[in-house]
Amino acid sequence: MRRQRQIRTEAPAGVRRLFFGVVVEIRSAYPYPVLIGSHILGRIGQHLEKTFAHGTCAIISDANVRPRFADRLKRSLASAGFRPTLITIPPGEKSKTLEKVGAICDRMLSAGLDRYSFVIGLGGGVIGDLSGFVAAIYHRGIPHIQIPTTLLAMVDSSIGGKTGVDTHAGKNLIGAFHHPALVIDDVEVLKTLPPREFNQGFGEIIKHAIIADAKMFKQLQSWKPRPSRRSVDLQRLIMRNIRIKAAFVTRDERDRTGKRAVLNFGHTVGHAIERAGNYRKFLHGEALSLGIVAACAISIKRAGLSSDQRDAAVSALRRFGLPTRLPRNFPRNKILSALKFDKKFEGGKIRFVVTPRIGAAYLTDTVTLDDIHETVSDL
Ligand SMILES: NC(=O)c1ccc[n+]([C@@H]2O[C@H](COP(=O)([O-])OP(=O)(O)OC[C@H]3O[C@@H](n4cnc5c(N)ncnc54)[C@H](O)[C@@H]3O)[C@@H](O)[C@H]2O)c1
Ligand SMILES: [Zn+2]
Repeated sequence: MRRQRQIRTEAPAGVRRLFFGVVVEIRSAYPYPVLIGSHILGRIGQHLEKTFAHGTCAIISDANVRPRFADRLKRSLASAGFRPTLITIPPGEKSKTLEKVGAICDRMLSAGLDRYSFVIGLGGGVIGDLSGFVAAIYHRGIPHIQIPTTLLAMVDSSIGGKTGVDTHAGKNLIGAFHHPALVIDDVEVLKTLPPREFNQGFGEIIKHAIIADAKMFKQLQSWKPRPSRRSVDLQRLIMRNIRIKAAFVTRDERDRTGKRAVLNFGHTVGHAIERAGNYRKFLHGEALSLGIVAACAISIKRAGLSSDQRDAAVSALRRFGLPTRLPRNFPRNKILSALKFDKKFEGGKIRFVVTPRIGAAYLTDTVTLDDIHETVSDL
């Protein structure tokens, strides 16, 4: 059996190199490691043996991901002495419901999972949010392992401990903070991701660059979207984004002080566009791209962003095939009415994230509803 060995390296603080990639330690009030590399899926059992007692566990996945990766993971767990139960749900946002949570918990109870068991979420952000919420409430909370299979889930949703489901009243309204015990990013799984799904991950990546990392922004300006998805560059890019997200989260674990809220850059208008398109017209990262363009326009007016930098942000988004103009016939009035559903409008006060220059951002209450209306009509 091959043993994991550490090699000498000049990795940044909090990062260890292993032969299959790197381990990033998230140092928060709830610390956990993130493994980033390739061909990790088949060795996960071996890895978990070091931390988890042999016993029952659940793998929660969706019908697109299961046939591609679940058997390999299940075999690896079984050969390391675990007893995995595989639970598959239909793909997509429509599965993120309390009903599904109940049904999954019932399956886990009948499979004999107890309070010493753990849950693995194998899939995109939908599976991450749903399996995390199941882990948060099952026997009052059991460990959750995230194995994200979309770029968006790797760079964003698997980090930060937000879990939950949707209701008729809106998205993510029921949930819990439950940080993962471990996150495993195997970039090999991204090879089967449809290009549109892959590209939408760059919405969040470009957002991270704009709010916190001017150097990464520069790299993205010459990034070749497709060929590099196989390379170690992608692993580095994912690591960098995880560190950015984690840095904001650890300053404000429960999203109370406004520090974590900076991560919402582009999301005020982005979420409204997503909702106005009935969650079908645009993927999250695509709606976010339009939201970023809107936030840049507002930042020119309210935070002194230069129009050159706004143009650079727009071209970066275009580079990854992301939309930067609304279709001419898109009902803009629906966006404006969707804005009032935004959690950031609570209490009637607008909290909007602006960027004064690429690499920095802050929350302000100087943005008016008129600013947003004007920007949306020009989008
Ligand atoms: N918790 C958080 O902090 C947070 C942050 C951002 C987004 N989210 C949530 O994440 C969700 C969106 O995540 P997503 O974009 O990953 O969506 P998703 O989970 O629906 O995945 C997108 C599609 O890709 C398929 N898929 C996944 N991996 C694949 C692979 N490797 N190969 C082929 N197909 C694959 C899925 O079956 C699905 O059809 C939303 O529910 C959103 O609310 C949560
Ligand atoms: Zn987002």
